[in-house]
Amino acid sequence: NLKINIAIDGPAGAGKSTIARLVAKELSYIYVDTGAMYRAVTWHMLKAGIKPESAAEVLRHAQAMEIELIPGADGQKVLVDGRDVTPYIRSLEVSGMVSQYAQIEGLRKHLVALQQQMAARKGVVMDGRDIGTTVLPNAELKIFMTASVKERALRRFKELGDAQGVTLEQLEKDISERDRLDAGREISPLRCADDAIVLDTTHMDIPQVVDTIVSYCKTHT
Ligand code: C5P
Repeated sequence: NLKINIAIDGPAGAGKSTIARLVAKELSYIYVDTGAMYRAVTWHMLKAGIKPESAAEVLRHAQAMEIELIPGADGQKVLVDGRDVTPYIRSLEVSGMVSQYAQIEGLRKHLVALQQQMAARKGVVMDGRDIGTTVLPNAELKIFMTASVKERALRRFKELGDAQGVTLEQLEKDISERDRLDAGREISPLRCADDAIVLDTTHMDIPQVVDTIVSYCKTHT
């Protein structure tokens, strides 16, 4: 029973991480959340006061950081130099800045190399923006997951709850802006790979999406 690599790309809030984690669980594969790596770097830079304009400084710090993704009881944990930063990386502050750091070419090269190492032995479900196009161009299965902006904002709204005091309208704006930056950047923009299967999940629930991807996987193994 040979293991394959599965690449899941798509815009912000399409549910990639939820789905990727469940697909990995179902197949006993390793889940790699590449967005969490860009978020961990962003969290570190904000804390250290390093602006995205200082590309060389960002890269120097990123290369010195140890980023670990480890499976936890409820989802994946992200450790930076041994410290659990999982609770901080989904904040509105990090979400609002991550796309700017993610445009830095040297940083992308560095993180892509780490991601390729993580997938070298196969049996990985990796989600992000450039997995099928750049990180794992030879992945046996590539999924491009989308949903309407409205639906994605609504999902994130339910996930955040009232605690963060953000409106649905604000989330729609934030998500559209992140889509614009991620699709418009020069290096590895968010783009559907030519050989990816497009999955519009606007009207699908979580188990339906998981089952669909697992069934595609079975045709490859
Ligand atoms: O997937 P998530 O929303 O956590 O990703 C956060 C941000 O990290 C994205 O908006 C994007 O700017 C960046 N990212 C990226 N390439 C990836 C994964 C994430 O540029 N492979």
